Amino acid sequence: MSNSVSIDNQEQYKKAVNHYLSPKRKDSVKTQWEEKFSLAVIGSAIKKLEERYSPKSLRVMDFGCGLGEGFFLVQNALNSINLSKKEVSYLGLDNSQDMVNVASEQWESSPNVNFQVNDFRYEIPDQPTDIYLSCGVPYSHLSQTEAKGTLGKICRRIKENKTQSLIVVDVLGRYSIEWITKWGESRWDYRMSFVKDGKDQKPMVMTCYYAPEIKKIVEQAAQQENCEIQEIEFCDRSIMAGRHTSTLEYNPHIPPYREVINSLYNSERTTNFQEILFTSPLPPAPSEVHEFFAKFSGMWNQLVKEAADFCGENLEISETIELPEPFSKLRAELSQYEDNKHDKSFRAHVIEPTLANYLYQLESTLQPGLGVGHTLIALIYVNGKN
Ligand SMILES: C[S@@+](CC[C@H](N)C(=O)[O-])C[C@H]1O[C@@H](n2cnc3c(N)ncnc32)[C@H](O)[C@@H]1O
Repeated sequence: MSNSVSIDNQEQYKKAVNHYLSPKRKDSVKTQWEEKFSLAVIGSAIKKLEERYSPKSLRVMDFGCGLGEGFFLVQNALNSINLSKKEVSYLGLDNSQDMVNVASEQWESSPNVNFQVNDFRYEIPDQPTDIYLSCGVPYSHLSQTEAKGTLGKICRRIKENKTQSLIVVDVLGRYSIEWITKWGESRWDYRMSFVKDGKDQKPMVMTCYYAPEIKKIVEQAAQQENCEIQEIEFCDRSIMAGRHTSTLEYNPHIPPYREVINSLYNSERTTNFQEILFTSPLPPAPSEVHEFFAKFSGMWNQLVKEAADFCGENLEISETIELPEPFSKLRAELSQYEDNKHDKSFRAHVIEPTLANYLYQLESTLQPGLGVGHTLIALIYVNGKN
């Protein structure tokens, strides 16, 4: 851990409320990549709960809920799997009084949506719950020991209430390209410098995770409570375009990928393809992390090269990689636009968003669930009936 001074996160979130309310936060990466990915992950997790025991309604407890984004996530996930009629009761917990005040005001007219000031390192409410949700990395505020304590408390509740439940643990990935200067540490002073007026943000100590580290604490917590884990899955979200790729605060060697990818979706401008390439050298990490980045960056660069070639630009990448389906289809898809390929406006309106969608598909398909993205999501299915 670095020696710089860390202060209570409540003070920082007081300042961040405006960031969470700001429409500017919803850039293309957020709506076309991150929200889409979370929706797919939570949608498929709810489908699994349906197959396992088909809960009559969904009782959701959202840890570190902020302004209640988790409620939208669950509701949209239900819509995406044609279960929009399923009733949801939602309890959001946050230790920031400011977040809870604003959230309660916003959801005043929804009787099934409630918020409570609660620090989830300590006591947690005892009502039976189907999904112990978290999103936006709240567990990263906790040390590994605190996270294990919270997971133990959840397992105890699941046993007491004899439920089958899903626990969603959302944390910062340890091996994100956003912070290669921090790969050697698991807990360090993190600044949310990407929020509005972010330059004034003080650091908060945050824990970043490699998937086996979470697996270990989950298994220990469940074992202590004699609680059966049925399955654990991991997913990496936002590998190339986490918010710190824009600040370059912890990796000055990469292009500002988030802005570059947002630019691919912006029909008002053309994007420099060279800036999308992934050529960054990486520091020491477990071999599976390096193997992933080697494979992923080769395919990523190949997609960019194909779009650039089509537009008549040579990116001077000597290696050619044979892309598997469905990524191999980009070339054929672009070839239907042969007559317009030199038209800059057409490039900005059609070719660049097409490339962006292929890049998203690549990232979301290849993500290995190791802790190589901004966010690592652990989905833990627990059976408290035994
Ligand atoms: C990055 S925000 C995410 C908010 C929301 N879940 C979202 O996705 O928009 C993290 C939230 O976790 C809350 N938090 C941090 N530590 C907490 C703790 N020990 N107990 C409860 N909430 C906590 C913060 O106040 C903040 O609202």
